[in-house]
Amino acid sequence: MIDIGTKELETERLILRKFNEEDYTGMFNNWASDLETNKYVSFKAHQNYDETKQIINEWISKYGDGSLNWVVELKETHEIIGNIEVIAKSKKNNNCEVGYTFGSKYWGKGYATEVLKKVIEFLLYDCDFHLIEAKHHASNPASGRVMEKAGMKKDGVLRERRVNKLMDGYDDLVIYSITKDDFSKIER
Ligand SMILES: CC(C)(COP(=O)(O)OP(=O)(O)OC[C@H]1O[C@@H](n2cnc3c(N)ncnc32)[C@H](O)[C@@H]1OP(=O)(O)O)[C@@H](O)C(=O)NCCC(=O)NCCS
Repeated sequence: MIDIGTKELETERLILRKFNEEDYTGMFNNWASDLETNKYVSFKAHQNYDETKQIINEWISKYGDGSLNWVVELKETHEIIGNIEVIAKSKKNNNCEVGYTFGSKYWGKGYATEVLKKVIEFLLYDCDFHLIEAKHHASNPASGRVMEKAGMKKDGVLRERRVNKLMDGYDDLVIYSITKDDFSKIER
């Protein structure tokens, strides 16, 4: 892998860029406090701007260490709609895991797929990772569909790996991955 950090990326409708300190209002209002979005993510829904400010400041401080974490902005309105980040990486095995979250008012428009495809391309070619993986709760099939549409292949199921926030119990995690070789064969 090549440690080049979070570079600005662009798709047809979106800009993927580093967070800045002013993003807290957009992040809080558009996804961090969104109870619908929160059903399938590990963090608790934010209660106030201070919580969001704190996490953004933490993320900004990690850019210096080469972290990969983008806020996603609509080109047309400049609203920020979610984020995508590398949540784990193995230098030794040259792979990494991505995670993403988008506000529920922006779902169903193809944004998550547009973002995931671009980030996979960047991670495989610019950062030179061999493989990218992602996991979703089995109770959240929309996220699996996003992974499939981005060209990822299902590896398998990790049984009961996450607490299910919607009921008293545990949820399976479904794991997907894509290699450079897989990506080179996708029609783009
Ligand atoms: C899952 C999530 C990322 C999807 O974002 P999105 O911008 O709506 O995704 P897209 O529009 O690119 O694609 C969604 C796909 O899922 C499909 N879908 C929606 N609900 C579905 C369901 N219940 N079952 C199966 N597929 C579903 C859509 O039809 C669409 O597929 P299509 O284009 O073939 O019709 C978004 O809902 C989200 O952020 N959820 C909360 C946080 C989260 O789940 N993060 C992922 C953790 S791994």
